[in-house]
Amino acid sequence: MARTPIVAGNWKMHLGRTPAHELLTALRDSLAGIEGIDMAVCPPAPWIADAADVLRGTRIGVGAQNVYWEPHGAFTGEVSAAMLAGTVDYVIVGHSERRHVFGETDEQSGRKLRTVLDLGMQPMLAVGELREEREDGRTNDVLRRQLLAAFADIERLPEGFIVAYEPVWAIGTGLTATPEIAQLTCADIRGILAERFDAATAESCRIQYGGSANAENAASLVGQPDVDGLLVGGAALQAESFTKICQAAAAVAS
Ligand code: 13P
Repeated sequence: MARTPIVAGNWKMHLGRTPAHELLTALRDSLAGIEGIDMAVCPPAPWIADAADVLRGTRIGVGAQNVYWEPHGAFTGEVSAAMLAGTVDYVIVGHSERRHVFGETDEQSGRKLRTVLDLGMQPMLAVGELREEREDGRTNDVLRRQLLAAFADIERLPEGFIVAYEPVWAIGTGLTATPEIAQLTCADIRGILAERFDAATAESCRIQYGGSANAENAASLVGQPDVDGLLVGGAALQAESFTKICQAAAAVAS
């Protein structure tokens, strides 16, 4: 089954309103004409509406970086999935910075995942091991734990469901996983998906790699059979580098 690769930019907590708007406008032009892959940007929450305005009518989707599962209420500082539905296409769930900086538990990631799916948006479920977990040979156990906890209340996944494999040791470090490590680990993730759901579901899932992805390494990563796109941090903050990454992924996909 052919999977459409997806390249998404996670802007994290970067860019004020004016530079964000400039980047959106630049991407609207520079990504026009790229076909064969799905593309998305995930700006900081206050710029999501701007992104939806600037990118309306383009092939570039808009995503949120986080979400809260309750629809409304006394939850100061949170943004609900219900508030995002209708404006965003994608929501990153369980990013390692949510897990490790803000203490988000596997169970909380699961509640977010369930809500995002219920409201018809596409989650990008981020999983990944710490450096010491990889060194201790525990990568597979950690990924299995994160995935199974996130899927606790989920009976089936929609076709094309997105998992983002982001080894924590590769995020923002310039230390990209080799294409071999990315391939082996994404294949392991697909195996866990097949066990938890079924082979056809696992085959249809798109597994992104994230962690110091850039214009130079994009083609070799996306060229791996089980790597179906990229979740890009730092290199998504300039139109030129993000465009080159999307072009490289599209060239591999064609
Ligand atoms: P970097 O590409 O900056 O390493 O960030 C990866 C990431 O965390 C994307 O979600």
